[in-house]
Amino acid sequence: MSLKNQNPTSTKSWGKLLSHFKDIKSKTIVSYFDENSNRSDELTIKWEDFYVDFSKNRLDKQTISLFTDLLNEIQLKDSINKYFTGDKINKTENRAVLHTALRSEENSNLKVAGINVRNQIKDVKNKIREFSNSVVLGSKKGYTNKPFTDVVNIGIGGSDLGPSMVIDSLKFYKNHLNTHFVSNVDGDHVNEVLKTLDPETTLFIIVSKTFTTQETLSNANTIRSWFLKKAKQEDVSKHFIAVSTNLEKVMSFGIEKDNIFPMWDWVGGRFSLWSAVGITISLSIGFKNFEDFLKGANHMDIHFQETNFDKNIPVILACIGVWYNNFYNCESESVITYSQYLNQFATYLQQASMESNGKSVDRDGSKVNYSTGQIVWGEPGTNSQHAFFQLIHQGTKLIPTDFIGFTQSLYGNKDHQNKLISNFIAQTEALMKGKSLAEVKKSNKDNFNIPFKVFEGNKPTNTILIDKLTPKSLGKLIALYEHKIFVQGVIWNIFSYDQFGVELGKKLANTVLDDIQNNSSNNHDSSTNNLIKYYKSKNIT
Ligand code: F6P
Repeated sequence: MSLKNQNPTSTKSWGKLLSHFKDIKSKTIVSYFDENSNRSDELTIKWEDFYVDFSKNRLDKQTISLFTDLLNEIQLKDSINKYFTGDKINKTENRAVLHTALRSEENSNLKVAGINVRNQIKDVKNKIREFSNSVVLGSKKGYTNKPFTDVVNIGIGGSDLGPSMVIDSLKFYKNHLNTHFVSNVDGDHVNEVLKTLDPETTLFIIVSKTFTTQETLSNANTIRSWFLKKAKQEDVSKHFIAVSTNLEKVMSFGIEKDNIFPMWDWVGGRFSLWSAVGITISLSIGFKNFEDFLKGANHMDIHFQETNFDKNIPVILACIGVWYNNFYNCESESVITYSQYLNQFATYLQQASMESNGKSVDRDGSKVNYSTGQIVWGEPGTNSQHAFFQLIHQGTKLIPTDFIGFTQSLYGNKDHQNKLISNFIAQTEALMKGKSLAEVKKSNKDNFNIPFKVFEGNKPTNTILIDKLTPKSLGKLIALYEHKIFVQGVIWNIFSYDQFGVELGKKLANTVLDDIQNNSSNNHDSSTNNLIKYYKSKNIT
């Protein structure tokens, strides 16, 4: 069984949302607050340590209720059930989508192709625990009998972005191990990382679901050659481990079976940080914190599965995203994290969201006649206020923005924290209220400047305020966005879990490489031919 195939725009509820949109599109957010003194309470969800305020949006309770009708009409509940129970909802790749099982505490059988995956998950978790403990405690040693000081994650896309973002976000909790990431096929990247490392005390983790990715294999080969300049072939097994579904390929690379951490085809690359792909996380913050991280995600999974749609955080954020994407025709949404720790969060979300929902063919195989996946971008606040906020405040584009912040700072510096959170709150107020012509006139003597100082306001924001950045709360936050992406894929009637769009470029890169390395001349257009020729004339290193 697969997900229901239903063009959302031809549902009854979509029609109702459309006429509702026509009715309210010229209303301002401020006017909603003037009319309803309970608005903030009505449009805020308090759940565990999360405070999610979606009242500063161009919508009202009726909008939410109409979206709920849509979700019922397209049978979201049934889709959620299929998602969590291992239905092959990744139909184009004929796979289940079960990253949620990696953080589940359920014991009941969960079968994929007749195999109970709970046992596989338990085994790998034990292996991660034992391995991380031995490295962190120093009982596992390198080829000269020294404990490890550094860990290098070699991977790209989902085999890099998730672990890298989580480790950076949780560096407050890190132990003595230094972690490094090599992802780009750009040789300068790997060289910059290697120049700081000592082969005697460095552990290398090759992370590749397929173990066929050009970037990862090139980097792994380069690193192994660098390692072998000092060490011997038999030392490789002490310093190299791999995470992959492709045991054969890993073994032919020279990694022993015991050093392979398996993963499964029912875990998508961009959702794989909960699996053994997260081993670098477990090494960096310790297994106990890694478990808390999984636990947090599991709490959000339960909230998502069990809460009514109108109080369900991922569902509400998904609907708001669709509201701006499909009714207001917004092209992008930004995510601003008021924590420097989360400076990689938007980059991580770009893959999670855009690789999932950047699709233009529906579940019927037909071209969609409506807009799908939004462009996601962002940076931490307050830095971004001094960079691109000008455009959000006064530009011509409507950019709905998620503000993510924490009530407590990790080092407890109250002065800084008060200033940070004042900015966090004030920006959402400023974006909503703006500054009218009349107000500007009152405080401005220079007539010429008046129009430039007007802020239209009415810019929508969601505020996600969390008690404290911990492994557990970060797990909840990531799972929240994963489920938002899922719900939007269901509404847009697309397959969110394949990524055929990245294949064509990969293939053509190999053809161009053939032209460059073997002097062959494959058939390209004149621009491409000239670029290859020009590169070859200049590349003399
Ligand atoms: O190029 C896209 C992609 O397939 C991602 O979906 C994936 O996370 C990444 O490449 C890396 O793939 P692998 O883990 O198989 O090396």
